[in-house]
Amino acid sequence: MRVVILPTETEASNFAGQFIADYINNNKNPVVGLATGSSVLLTYEVLISHYKEEKLSFKNTITFNLDEYVGLPINHVQSYRNYMNQKLFDHVDIYQSNTYIPECFDDNFDKACSNFEDDIKKYGGIGLQLLGVGSNGHIGFNEPTSSLQSRTRVKTLTKNTLSKNSRFFEANEKQPSLAITMGIGTIMEAKSILLIGLGKHKSKAVADVIEGPLSAFCPGSALQNHKNVTVVLDRLAAKDLKLFDYYIQTEKMKSKYNC
Ligand code: GLP
Repeated sequence: MRVVILPTETEASNFAGQFIADYINNNKNPVVGLATGSSVLLTYEVLISHYKEEKLSFKNTITFNLDEYVGLPINHVQSYRNYMNQKLFDHVDIYQSNTYIPECFDDNFDKACSNFEDDIKKYGGIGLQLLGVGSNGHIGFNEPTSSLQSRTRVKTLTKNTLSKNSRFFEANEKQPSLAITMGIGTIMEAKSILLIGLGKHKSKAVADVIEGPLSAFCPGSALQNHKNVTVVLDRLAAKDLKLFDYYIQTEKMKSKYNC
């Protein structure tokens, strides 16, 4: 696992944006896994700037989002489809028909989940998966104790996740307690993974993901078993890492020897 620690969330997001832009620019048919939430917002702004400066085009890019709430009306402001449109898709030259989100419109959840998995396969798998991490260690909506081999399916959200995400919903609004999410096994099949963690409220989850035991109780720790993971953190999110100095030193050596 490569661990990149940068002073601020802006620098960490610039790194993440450049990382994704490089992947898209270096691949003829890029397939990118996308995340929602606050951690990736600045990264999407960086991608939009790259596009506006004509350094990046999404015309050939296929995207697969990690997750979507169950039971929200299609145009609900808090749906992840709406989030993606607002925060990225509407500002760049991506074709909507190339953007996949694990949505279910007819209550046939098994079919929606297996179609989503089939679509990923149809494009040869995800080349680069972007991830945030929940403060309980979840990736996508794979809550603690999710099977490390799980596939796309419906998950019940924990109280912790519901309360963390309640800030996005109005006080009198019904907040969904279920979501469809890519499984951990699905995420692990991505050829490369970029996880971004920002802020001190993420420091414990980040330490568990990088240095904790491999455990379904911290779903993100499954990434220790992946051979091509980069984690980019701001200094606050990195503050609980036992090997903090080592990661800084490793990156210095990496740039000194270009390896
Ligand atoms: C959310 C999403 C995840 C996201 C995580 C962290 O609930 N399902 O995809 O990475 O939790 O969210 P945030 O970046 O807002 O802290």
